[in-house]
Amino acid sequence: MILLVGGEKGGSGKSCLAQNIAAFFTKECEASVIMVDCDPQRTTSDWIQARNNNQLPAINCVQLYGKIRNDLLSLEQHYDVIIVDCGGQDNLAMRAAMSVASHVLMPLRPKRRDLKTVNHMDDIVGTCMMINPDMKASFVITQCPSLPSQAKRILEAKEVCSTYDINVLDSITFSRNVYDDSEESGLSVIELEPEGKAAQEIRNITFEQFEVNSTEQLQTLLQEKKANPLRGSYGITGSQKTSLRQ
Ligand SMILES: Nc1ncnc2c1ncn2[C@@H]1O[C@H](COP(=O)(O)OP(=O)(O)OP(=O)(O)O)[C@@H](O)[C@H]1O
Ligand SMILES: [Mg+2]
Repeated sequence: MILLVGGEKGGSGKSCLAQNIAAFFTKECEASVIMVDCDPQRTTSDWIQARNNNQLPAINCVQLYGKIRNDLLSLEQHYDVIIVDCGGQDNLAMRAAMSVASHVLMPLRPKRRDLKTVNHMDDIVGTCMMINPDMKASFVITQCPSLPSQAKRILEAKEVCSTYDINVLDSITFSRNVYDDSEESGLSVIELEPEGKAAQEIRNITFEQFEVNSTEQLQTLLQEKKANPLRGSYGITGSQKTSLRQ
């Protein structure tokens, strides 16, 4: 499966979400994971480097830029999950990844400047779905304020997103120091505070995006995808697909 964590708003939490989901798949689903860092800022590559320096369980990572479609398809032959972290712009790598991704998560903070990007993201997703109609794309609201008086902002953000054709996850992340504290040393919230609320947020987002209710169901889904030889055959005709099945 290829999960793209993308969007054109800087600082919305793309790298943070991509890294924490990668750690969840690695640690709790025992999946083979590779992260693809398409951002010249190298946020995710630096996080992996910090993991390696601190001798934490290894997660593979490559840096790829530009027309990465074929690279992703070949990586998919070797790993259970490919997690692509695109930087905060609409660039070629993001569109190329969207042409083959099975899942796309687009984090947004409940802030006006983030919500202004929804319209353009809806256009990009709509275009990519013409060639990749099975892709499941969702907005996810991140870094939410926890004060009850601010809850209206979260609801309003979800309402803005839901006026478009793209799914909006019920699951969100709240603004919590553990996200910032964990990434400094290459950790994830699941490794730093496995019983904490942030760890549960990451599990909930992943379960909802992959339409499962438990880690066991997610593992079953990964096994099914591994057994399905058709992944990686995007862009071929129905008759070609049939012949591949035989
Ligand atoms: N739920 C959260 N609570 C608290 N801090 C968070 C949360 N999510 C992300 N952050 C913090 O917000 C900052 C920006 O996050 P991140 O680097 O993931 O954004 P980004 O979308 O990848 O940015 P860019 O567009 O520059 O790549 C980081 O310091 C990260 O730790
Ligand atoms: Mg980033």
